[in-house]
Order: sequence, then C-alpha cells, then structure tokens
Amino acid sequence: MANINDYIENNKDRFLNELLDLLRIPSVSADSKFKGDVLKAAEFIHGKLLEAGADTVEICPTGGHPIVYGEKIVDAKLPTVLVYGHYDVQPADPYELWDSPPFEPVIKTTEIHPEGAIFARGACDDKGQVYMHIKAFETMMKTDNLACNVKFLIEGEEEVGSDHLGIFLEENKEKLAADIVLVSDTGIIANDVPSITVGLRGLSYVQVEVTGPNRDLHSGLYGGAVPNPINVLAEMIASLKDENKKINIPGFYADVIELTAEERAAMAEAPFNEEDYKKSIGLSTTEGEAGYTSMERSSIRPTLDVNGIWGGYIGEGAKTVIASKAYAKISMRLVPNQDPDKITKLFEDHFASIAPPSVKVKVIPHHGGQPAVTPTDSPAYLAAAKAMETTFGKAPVPFRGGGSIPIVALFEQTLGLKTVLMGFGLDSDAIHSPNEHYGVFNYFKGIETIPLFFKNFAELND
Ligand code: BES
Ligand code: MN
Ligand code: MN
Repeated sequence: MANINDYIENNKDRFLNELLDLLRIPSVSADSKFKGDVLKAAEFIHGKLLEAGADTVEICPTGGHPIVYGEKIVDAKLPTVLVYGHYDVQPADPYELWDSPPFEPVIKTTEIHPEGAIFARGACDDKGQVYMHIKAFETMMKTDNLACNVKFLIEGEEEVGSDHLGIFLEENKEKLAADIVLVSDTGIIANDVPSITVGLRGLSYVQVEVTGPNRDLHSGLYGGAVPNPINVLAEMIASLKDENKKINIPGFYADVIELTAEERAAMAEAPFNEEDYKKSIGLSTTEGEAGYTSMERSSIRPTLDVNGIWGGYIGEGAKTVIASKAYAKISMRLVPNQDPDKITKLFEDHFASIAPPSVKVKVIPHHGGQPAVTPTDSPAYLAAAKAMETTFGKAPVPFRGGGSIPIVALFEQTLGLKTVLMGFGLDSDAIHSPNEHYGVFNYFKGIETIPLFFKNFAELND
C-alpha cells in the first residue's frame, strides 16, 4: 500500500492543521454554555466526512447533542466497519493549571513525545483519534484503497454518559448494520509497546448529600452539640473501605468474575514498571486493594473513588460556620458481570444504612455504564493486531483498560456487534486533566494503521 503512505506524507501538514482547527472548537458536552460549539464541532466533522468522500453524511438531532452519521458503501458484498468515536470533550477546568489555553492548540516536544505533541483539550480524547479515522478514510478514498464499506457514528455525548446514543442504536438497527465496530478511544502501553485494549470497566456514578441542621450555624455557638454534615460525610466515606482497601458495601463483589491464576499470569506478562508508574504521577508509593498489583487494581478490580467533595466555606480567609449540607460525587468502576444498576442500588441502601440518625442523606444516581470484554481470537482482532504489527514493527499485547466507554456493551446487546478497541493514546497524555496532549507520532501512526485494518479485515472475511 505504498501510495497510501505517499498520500499521507504529501498531506501531512494539512492533516495536522485540520485537527488543530477542530481542537479550537470548545465542544464541552457537560456545560450548556458550550451548546453552540458542540454543534459547530458536529458540523465540522460532517463537512470533513463529505470532503473525504462519504456518500451520505447527516447530523442527527437527539434529545441532547447531535450524532454525526456518515457512510461509504463500496460494495454490498464487502464487510462493513462501523467506526465509533466522540467529538465532545471534558470541561477544561481548572483553566489556570494549563500551560497554554485549552482551546488554542500548540505543538511542543516532551520527553515521551520527542516528535512533538498537540496540547489541547480533546487532543487525545477523542478528537485526535476520531480525526485519524477521517483522514485514514480520505486517504483510502483518494488512493482507491477502501477495502471495506464504512459507516461513521461520531457522537457528542460520550463524556456525559452517551444517554441518547443508546436510543439511536435501538431506532437505527438497520442503518447501523455492520460486521464490526472499530473504536480509537483508548491507548497503547507505550510508543514502542503497541497494545490493544480487550476490556473496559463499567461505571456507577452517584452524588450524595448529607443534611444536618436546617441552616448554617455559628461554629462557636453550636459547635460540639450538633452533627456537622461535613464531618459526618467524611466519616461515612472513610467507612466505605476496610483496612485492606476492600469496599465494604455488602454484596459489592458478589458478581465479580475472578481471573484464573493463568489469566493473571498472562496479564503480568504485559510490560509494566511500578517505579516508572509511580514516578510519572509523583508518588513515592502506590496503594489499593490488598492482594493485587497496580495493573490489576486499575483494570480487573472494581473501585470506589470520591471525585469531588464540597460544603461549608471555601472562600478566602476563615469563616466560622457549621454548614447545613455536605456533598460528594462518587464513582465506582465495575468489572465484567457487575451490573451498574444493581451496584447503584447496593450503594444507596448501604449509604442510607450507615448514616447516623442525626442527619438525612440523599443519593442521586448519575450515569452508569456496563463493563465490556472483547475477543482476542476474532478476525477483527487479528486484523488489528496484524495492522499494528506492520506499522509498529512489533506485535501488540492485549490488555484490559481501566476506563469506560459505556456504548461498547450496547453495540453488542443492541446491534449484536463486537468491538475492536484500537486506540493510540498514552496514559501520560493527561486526558481529562490540564495539559491534555496527543503525540504527533501517535496521530500519524493511527492514520497509517487504520487502512491496514480495513485491508486485513476484508481479507480475513473473504
Ligand atoms: N476515552 C475515555 C475512556 C478510556 C480512556 C478508556 C483511556 C480506556 C483508556 C472516555 O472518553 C471516558 O473518559 N469515559 C468516561 C466514562 C463516561 C461515562 C464519562 C470514563 O471512563 O470516565
Ligand atoms: Mn474518550
Ligand atoms: Mn473521556
């Protein structure tokens, strides 16, 4: 496929500049202030899919942000690849922690990215990775190399739970008919250690509210004689894990599938360096559930983490006050066979049961998502592995990721489709954090690898 590489090489600057244009649109799905920008990003994707050579491209309205759908059917006899990704991004807050403004992309070199990395919110998650697919598609079209039919499903609500995409799948089963879903919204272990994600964790996300007195009180006049909701909440949260960092919610682990000793041994083969891991995030020691390695704790084991906690006075100086209310946002990452609705219910019951009688508690469930595992012996996995082996010069390692992409389980349940998670990001790319970035190397490696996936998948499906 020599002409493919020539085409990429000859269009390198434009491929990069177009991505920068997309990154300038602040498509933050969580914040209604950016609603117009989210639509702008959808329109941008729509336009670029058309330019690249898609037959039909539509912006499909939903109850939330729109879905961009596009397709190119070459021949009904060829297999069809459904490419999924998201054009929405996480909020960029806190802005002051960014070295350059989040929606003014710049390219800088780093230790890990000597060829440069694009710094912007969404650079890696997931605009950069979605855009690789659009440019790979353009390349295949313009060089007459498109080996499969392709359908694009690019949504604008992944970062807020993909609520409307589930309905869209239900209502468009025929339109979305395909042989495989291909997603680039995960990562590789390192630029010289290619890998393919074969598992994602599920998610149950709740907000809790603890109410004590009916108004904020003077902490001198009342302090000592009344329940302080912030103290109470802190104690309740602390009690959610035992001294071995096992989660204390009754029934929490009941459905967890334990990996066999062989599976754990195979997992331990994947390159992972505890020292580098600690160093990369500035820790002197890691911690987590007793009996498991860091890699296991962050992929095959469920977790419970406070994501935010607030209440009382947090302004400048000191204010002596006992707040009436305290709040926290808590995420539970789930592993195969755990059900998010069931876990949310267990949490609600347990949290109510541990509240002292002096306070009232409320649990508000947010979004959830089911865990997923993907096969390693399917033609699609082999097509991806072979493509990566060609472009990286090394066979990829299968590994289970810790993050969540809720729609993956629904692709299987609603459309009967398996997914291949062929992502190109790095854990150090700071997704969801200030200074998110994406390697220029990774961007072009993706554009180079995707056409090979199409070619291999068509051949393996013959
Ligand atoms: N792309 C990520 C998930 C991811 C990243 C998986 C890296 C594996 C490796 C995705 O955009 C994401 O952030 N998902 C959310 C879930 C969603 C319901 C908000 C997550 O994992 O927190
Ligand atoms: Mn993502
Ligand atoms: Mn994300």
